[in-house]
Amino acid sequence: MSGRRVRLGVLVSGSGSNLQALLDACAREDFPAEVACVVSNMPGAYALERACAAGVPAVVVDHKAHASKVEFEAALLEALRAAGVEWVCLAGFMRLLSADFLGRFTGKVLNVHPSLLPSFPGLHAQRQALERGVKVAGCTVHFVDAGTDTGPIIGQAAVPVLPDDDEKSLSARILVEEHRLYPLAVRLAVTGQVALDGMRTRVTAVATAGELSLRSPGAVK
Ligand code: GRF
Repeated sequence: MSGRRVRLGVLVSGSGSNLQALLDACAREDFPAEVACVVSNMPGAYALERACAAGVPAVVVDHKAHASKVEFEAALLEALRAAGVEWVCLAGFMRLLSADFLGRFTGKVLNVHPSLLPSFPGLHAQRQALERGVKVAGCTVHFVDAGTDTGPIIGQAAVPVLPDDDEKSLSARILVEEHRLYPLAVRLAVTGQVALDGMRTRVTAVATAGELSLRSPGAVK
């Protein structure tokens, strides 16, 4: 890719498999973004090791080390600003961000959530899906607003819920789709091919629009 790459800040709290998917995508020459820094609110998160292995600066901003949410977010903002971050990707980041923080990156914060929103927002989405007995589950990439998993949806992918599924097996099946969908949505968003339109988004990349709303659950073995 000859043009300038958009600088991403990826916020994590845990394993960071979605971070890995983004790092892998960014390693491709034709990807329009790079991970400028990884910030974890959890000191021992495995995601930090993934960042180090990829040679990406990683910092811990521990929410417990700050007296208030305002102070925590100020430290977060400082870390992102210091790295020249333009877009923020939440990847298993387990803190809710305030409207004030989001206002510093208006329309430039994305999240991946392991359900077909607006069903099952919040914690333990896969468990909620199993408890409700749905037959189709999936994941969603969306713009972040101040609500819990309520922002405008960019793309979704569906997987079947199988009779013997438990939280672990369903989560693993959904994660495969998260890792495919998130880099695709990031690519379209940072290149201006996804426009916000109230509660909805418009995707102008005709060639890839279909990939944002797939997939026949029957295709998964
Ligand atoms: C993913 O299922 C993501 O959708 C949710 O938290 C999980 C994080 O997994 N928000 P990982 O840390 O990316 O492996």
